[in-house]
Amino acid sequence: MALKAREAKLVQYLNEAYGKEKQLETALQAHISMTQQRTYKRRLQQHLQETKAHARGVERRIRELGGSAETISVPGPDVVQEAASRVQEVAQRGAALAKGPLHAVRGTGEQEKLLKNAKTEFSNEAEEIANYTALETLAESVGDRDTAKLARGIRREEERMASFLQRLIPQLTRAVAQAEIPASERDGGARRRSTSGSRGTTRRRTTARSRSTARTGASTRRSAARRTTASRQSPRAGGRSRGRSRRTARATSPSR
Ligand SMILES: [Fe+2]
Repeated sequence: MALKAREAKLVQYLNEAYGKEKQLETALQAHISMTQQRTYKRRLQQHLQETKAHARGVERRIRELGGSAETISVPGPDVVQEAASRVQEVAQRGAALAKGPLHAVRGTGEQEKLLKNAKTEFSNEAEEIANYTALETLAESVGDRDTAKLARGIRREEERMASFLQRLIPQLTRAVAQAEIPASERDGGARRRSTSGSRGTTRRRTTARSRSTARTGASTRRSAARRTTASRQSPRAGGRSRGRSRRTARATSPSR
């Protein structure tokens, strides 16, 4: 039986949200398997549980409104609409399945992969926030308090995840810089190099140490320490001394 326009529109938005949640389950699982850093991994695992709960909540609401998950039923040519939504569903699933392994091979180094994943996760959260903002507003517009409440609750969790990622992205970026760019080239290193004499040995030694730091992973606390170090080192101080960059590398090395 065809739904009325009100329910059909609600079910459509719920289904769009549902499709995205199911797609993210796959992506999050792939990202979890690639992440070693404990705080980040734990947050991803937590958000995977949240994501599954969101899908369940949305699916339940779709049924309560007389619809069915992943099938958008609107007044009019139901057969065509259902076929179209099935095609969309299959395409979405295919895309998510294809993206999982794709995410596992992209990027150059470990840190770069983690950063790319975090950026993807952030854009996914933004899309979900948009989905639930539209759903909440639609529900309010047609007086559906239950759907509005559900959308609001989920949106808040997506916002918390987005905010976690926004704080994480600078940390991951600093880890990329440390892993891939020799210390002598960071913080105004270009100027330093152009005026340098024979310091190849020092640069190599510092780089090796930076790489070992990157391999063992960086905790939030260490990243904070690095941030403090970075803010102490103004770009102008770049050309001052090589001893300083060695001290910096030691200060940011993990203690374990
Ligand atoms: Fe979600």
